[in-house]
Amino acid sequence: MTDATATPLRFAVYASGRGSNFQALLQAWRLGHFDGPVALMPALLIVNKAQAKALEVAAEFGIPSAVIDNQDPALAQTQLGLLADHGIDRIALAGFLRPVPGEVVAAYSDKILNIHPGPLPQFGGHKMYGRHVHQAVLDAKVEFSGPTVHRVDEVYDRGPVIAHQAVKVQPDDSPESLAARVLVVEHELYPRALRWDWGQDPNALTPEMRAGISAS
Ligand code: GRF
Repeated sequence: MTDATATPLRFAVYASGRGSNFQALLQAWRLGHFDGPVALMPALLIVNKAQAKALEVAAEFGIPSAVIDNQDPALAQTQLGLLADHGIDRIALAGFLRPVPGEVVAAYSDKILNIHPGPLPQFGGHKMYGRHVHQAVLDAKVEFSGPTVHRVDEVYDRGPVIAHQAVKVQPDDSPESLAARVLVVEHELYPRALRWDWGQDPNALTPEMRAGISAS
């Protein structure tokens, strides 16, 4: 819960499915990890699939949610309207399988984060989501994978990386076994990345999580 004396930064989460990263953010919030002089407050869930499990997570935590229609001819305006109505200052993408409209990226320039389940830029881009990422990592026979958090710009998966945590690839890994180990680390990394990037705690990311990342 947030510190009553602080004016919280209100953030929206965008998701398309299961919502386990959304849940990890809500648990961090509930545990007080987002409290402080700059407090972070989850204030809206936006999904683009009516059957997204993330909706159940939102209901469980009492967070307002909205379902958007990918075919909406005014998709950007619809999103901007929702974000304004809920006083949203920041956005966290958590398994959102659509590009964010350019107008929204422009309105929230440098204020949108995304978590990706593999190293970027090597294992990102077109069709690189979910199992495809882990399969590509195994095909490349690299020693380490691990989630990456980056700021969102107008090009999918390209914005500046702010955090990464290495996960060792095991010789007998399948895409599923690797995904499961990476996901555990995602749930630790993403709340920390929000706290770090949005000014809540400059020490929220460890030096290891910032290793090899140029100043941003
Ligand atoms: C995560 O692996 C995340 O890195 C990627 O999409 C997946 C979403 O999973 N962007 P969940 O819906 O948060 O469980």
